[in-house]
Formats: sequence, structure tokens, C-alpha cells
Amino acid sequence: MGLVTGACLADLGNDVTCVDIDEAKVARLNAGQIPIYEPGLEEVVGRNVRAGRLHFTSSYASAVPPAQFIYIAVNTPAGQAGEADMSQARSATQSIAQHLSPDAIIINKSTMPIGTGDWVTMMVGRYVEGRVPFHVVSNPEFLREGSAIVDFMNPDRVVLGSTDPEAAKIVAELYVPLNAPIMITDLRTAEMIKYASNAFLATKISFINEMAAICERLGADVKEVARGMGLDKRVGPAFLEAGVGYGGSCFPKDIMALAHMAAVHGCHPQLLRAVMDINHDARRSVLIKIREGLGSLEDRRIGVLGLAFKPNTDDLREAPALEIIHLLVQEGAHVQAFDPAAMEMAQRMLPSVHMCSDAYEVAEGAHALILMTDWNEFKSLNMRRLKDSMLYPLLIDGRNIYDPQEMAALGFHYRGMGRGYDTAQSSNGNGAASADVVEASRSIRV
Ligand code: UGA
Repeated sequence: MGLVTGACLADLGNDVTCVDIDEAKVARLNAGQIPIYEPGLEEVVGRNVRAGRLHFTSSYASAVPPAQFIYIAVNTPAGQAGEADMSQARSATQSIAQHLSPDAIIINKSTMPIGTGDWVTMMVGRYVEGRVPFHVVSNPEFLREGSAIVDFMNPDRVVLGSTDPEAAKIVAELYVPLNAPIMITDLRTAEMIKYASNAFLATKISFINEMAAICERLGADVKEVARGMGLDKRVGPAFLEAGVGYGGSCFPKDIMALAHMAAVHGCHPQLLRAVMDINHDARRSVLIKIREGLGSLEDRRIGVLGLAFKPNTDDLREAPALEIIHLLVQEGAHVQAFDPAAMEMAQRMLPSVHMCSDAYEVAEGAHALILMTDWNEFKSLNMRRLKDSMLYPLLIDGRNIYDPQEMAALGFHYRGMGRGYDTAQSSNGNGAASADVVEASRSIRV
């Protein structure tokens, strides 16, 4: 998020220096290498480095003094009790305070607990002891991984919070070229808007995943249900895709941190807790479907398509695939997998998994195939070829990207997420999943 913000602000014509204490990362960036996979980022970074507007350094001492705006974009990962771990924010704030020039505006861009703006004001104030006037503005970011550049350049809104509305107005000038509505409010409200937005989106996902679980039992198709619901303007179609649940570096930690904040301030965040619970159930349901299809997983070969927590990124943080693979391996399965971007990192985290060169190799000799990430390239595979190379044609579509009827016609035992059709098909039309499939799978094993 820091690199995207820096590169995009440079693209808007500003002179930007990005600071990172990781000297190796800075060296790579200075050598033109982008440390993450993010569509379009390399181009924007390259363009602005060449134009002399974008620089990288590990030195606060050189970057902070000339800066009028100082963005804090460090990580705020989940701490031990579910709280946001503020250690990186603390040390960045201290380093900034040591080099601050008068009237600089410190902008909190990371998702930070409610009250962080006041805390940063207090920390910096203590250090400069009235010698250096400064301002603090909260400016939460709403971009998504995988479409970060497009999201940054086309925001639905820009939110700015400050105890000093004049400082917020100066920051607002930076975003005028984006032609987006700019909302100015107080610090804590701005911080809360970010948490509430992520919590609402995660709630939508868990809501549809709960509907999916009900659809599965009652023979309805959740994709059609979501389509029918989404046509209501009050509901809207976005974030109603049922599947293996949300992952990534944002929703899991942010929902947990908001619930933690609520709980330690005397609230009972029951809805947030349910959202997290349902999300875990969505992941585990994949395992249940595999067991229903194959019986014991001991010595079964399972293919996994997609490892990243979503398409167009190599990010594996809280990726549902990691948890599922871990559980499959625990139950004795041999896992082979492919992801278009995340395999290098995944291999280090999952040494027992055989990483394949493409989706077709994943299917070879497999008793089951699980689609975990809805990369575009998985939507146009030759499914017949996949099926013919499998030992047993169980297909778990964790993102509902395939057509159940088409898959059944090809001979797959198709299990989607909340698609009533799969129950009927997987037992040849006679109701709930399938003693005969389990039998068939046992006989393969023999
Ligand atoms: C999310 C928010 O969408 C951004 O607005 C926010 O800025 C960001 O967190 C953040 O706080 O930094 P991101 O985590 O990059 O962005 O990705 P999303 O596209 O929101 O997807 C999150 C997860 O939800 C993924 O695992 C995705 O597969 C899942 N998802 C999304 C569903 O399962 N169903 C859906 O309908 C939509």
C-alpha cells in the first residue's frame, strides 16, 4: 500500500520519497525491481523514477526534513490477543518526530485503531515539545490488492479526518485531480470509517456464505440467489460471491481488531464474531466436501488450483488455501498445486506440497481437484483434459466459477459452494451426497 500510494502520488505530479527500514528492499527498488506482484505497479514506478519524481531510501534523516506531507503506511498486523500490533507504527512515528520540519502534516494511511491519530499527536508532541508545529490527518486507504493502482486513481471517496480542518483541506488538494468526493471529518470518525467499511464488506461475504450453506442443504443455487438479491439497488451485487471465505492482509486482521477494540471498551461485538466464525466454517466446508467425496484422505492425491488469497496478487497472508492444504496434509493426503503468481513463496511455506508447472499437471493422477483462487486463467481451462487425467473426478469449486451442469456432463462429481445442483448431480439425481460416490472412491483405493 505504501509503494502504490507513493508511486501514484508521484504520478499525480508530486515529488515523493518512499522510506523503508528494510535496506535490501530499498536496494531492489533502486535497481528497478518491484518486491510484490501488483498489476501495473512496475510501469507506474518505472515511469516516475525515470521522471525523477520517485525516490527510495532507508534514511528518515534525508526523507523527512524536506517533506510537507509524511504518510505512515506501515503494517499493522494482528497482535497476540487479536489487537492491531502497533509496533511498526510506533517506531515510524518516533523516527518521523526526530526529523520533522515546521508545519509538516503527518498522514495516517494504514488501517490504525480508533484513537491512533490522537496517539500520534501525543507522541510527536512529546518529542518536539512545542518547538515544531505539526498536524495529524487520518486518510484511510480503500484500495484492493490486485487492482490497487486503478482503485487509487479512481476512489469512490477520499476520507480525511483531523482535529484541524485546515490541515485536512491542505491534504484534500493532493486528491483534487482524482475527481472523487472528499469527506472531511474528525480523526476518530475517519479511523472508524475504514474499520466499519471493511467490517461491512466482510459481513456481506459471511452473509452470502451462510446463505450458501443453507442453499446447499435445501437445494437452491446461491449464485442465482446472489444475482436475484444484487438486483435490488439497496443490496447491490458486489461482495456477494460465496466461496471459501475471505483472506488477505486486511479483512481477517481488521475484523479481529475491531472486535477486540469493541470488547475492551465494554461492547459485545456479536455480529463481528459471527462474521469471523462463518468465515472459518466456509474454509472447513471444503474439507468436509472432500471427505464426503473420498472417504479417508490417507494417501489420496489432491490437486489445488490457486494459492493466493485472491486473483492478481502473490499475497498468501491468511490465504484460505494454506489452511486447507495444511489440513489435507494432516489427514494424510498428498497435495499438488499451481498458482500463477504465488508459488515461490508458497513452496517455502508448504515444503511437502508438489508445485506444478500448470493446471493440467495439478490434475494428473489426482483423486480430487479443489479450485481455491478464481484466477481468470482457471476459467478457460480444457476441463475435459483435466478430468481425463484424474484418477477420480471429484471437483470442488471453492469459488463457484464453473457451471455445475456442464461439469456434470463432462463426468465430474461437481461440488460447488452452496449450489443445490451439485447435491443432486453427485448422487446421480437421487438426493443427498452420495454413499455410492464414497463407495466408488473406496474401490479405487482397493
Ligand atoms: C480489502 C478492501 O476491499 C479494500 O477496500 C481495503 O482497502 C483493503 O481490504 C484494506 O483494508 O487494505 P483486499 O483485502 O485487497 O481489499 O481484497 P478484497 O477484494 O476486498 O478481497 C478480500 C477477500 O474477500 C478475498 O479473499 C476475496 O476472495 C474475498 N471475497 C471478496 C469473497 O470471498 N467474496 C466476495 O464477494 C468478495
